[in-house]
Amino acid sequence: MSRKKHQEPPAVVEAPPEPAGRSGDIAPVERQGERAWQAALRPRTFEDYIGQRDLIDNLRVSVRAAKEQGWPLDHFLFAGPPGLGKTTLAHVIANELGVNLHVTSGPAIDHKGMLASLLTSLGEGDALFIDEIHRLSPIVEENLYPAMEDFKFDLFIGDGPHAKAVTMKLPRFTLLGATTRMGLLSAPLLDRFGFHWQLRYYDLADMTAIVRRSAALIAVPVDDDGADEIARRARGTPRIANRLLRRVRDFAAVEGDGTVTGQIAASALDRLAVDHAGLDALDRAFLSVICERFDGGPVGIEAVAASLSEERGTLEEVVEPFLLQVGLVTRTPRGRVATAAGFAHLGLAPPAKAPSGGQGQGGQGRLF
Ligand SMILES: Nc1ncnc2c1ncn2[C@@H]1O[C@H](COP(=O)(O)OP(=O)(O)O)[C@@H](O)[C@H]1O
Ligand SMILES: [Mg+2]
Repeated sequence: MSRKKHQEPPAVVEAPPEPAGRSGDIAPVERQGERAWQAALRPRTFEDYIGQRDLIDNLRVSVRAAKEQGWPLDHFLFAGPPGLGKTTLAHVIANELGVNLHVTSGPAIDHKGMLASLLTSLGEGDALFIDEIHRLSPIVEENLYPAMEDFKFDLFIGDGPHAKAVTMKLPRFTLLGATTRMGLLSAPLLDRFGFHWQLRYYDLADMTAIVRRSAALIAVPVDDDGADEIARRARGTPRIANRLLRRVRDFAAVEGDGTVTGQIAASALDRLAVDHAGLDALDRAFLSVICERFDGGPVGIEAVAASLSEERGTLEEVVEPFLLQVGLVTRTPRGRVATAAGFAHLGLAPPAKAPSGGQGQGGQGRLF
């Protein structure tokens, strides 16, 4: 297989920023204007990629085998909330493989012809990254199946009685998919991935390492307490850590000697309304609706969404996963329930028969 040197992605349409359900520094969704500087902080190799060790170890093996044996890498799917490093991972894999990465997104491939032109522009062994892959149209998705399975694409040329079915042979390529909504992926699409993986929120040690790494790259001195404070408040999400770091850097320059200390970080982040556990106003509103309006639950997500005038999707994709992870909320068959820790976080006493808290469902336990 011919291996090309990794280049920055050729000019295929970049994923549009996802609609943000909230603004502010702590929204995990990518914001306009930050793509370039966030991308400059992206790790480029497995070595550089902090955390998600199980995943990285698996990927190392697969990439090495593909390189040594000269076969194309399996199609991989990465799922998880925004800002955890899915796009970064696609770049790292292409870089480690030494192939080109073509970047696009589900909604950007709006008809079959567009998919055809994308696929035929791939070089042998290249990787194609489709962000928000759960948003592919059904027609496009169906046409992706033979491409993924047999590296072929069926086209009809001409129309009416003279239409001819033509099968095009495609280069062998690797599809890298990312989604924030694994549950919305169709079973046939999921089946065609050799491997799928749910990215997790980063623990405190990894978050601290990410803050230090980014600080070094933008040449901002950060002391231990400063790194720790930012790491704790960034919702286990690297994108937010980078953003908070930039904000705190400004405070450090104006109010201190430029060094990010624990005290400067804490006072800057207080002013940005990010609390000590990394919750922002919407997170707290979500929690407080459950605790105060619905007596701790159980309450359906629709009712919470209606009370907050927020989209259900936003709550499910970007608010709830983190609150579940840190054990402030749990999910039961009858709805969302605030844990004792959830009440405590708001400074409230749990109702007499509060569900016992502290552990997220699924046994992941508390993060920090
Ligand atoms: N494992 C990691 N180690 C260090 N920095 C990371 C890591 N994952 C993500 N980042 C940083 O966070 C930013 C957002 O990551 P990105 O891959 O765009 O997230 P996603 O595609 O999951 O929304 C990146 O630009 C990068 O700077
Ligand atoms: Mg992304």
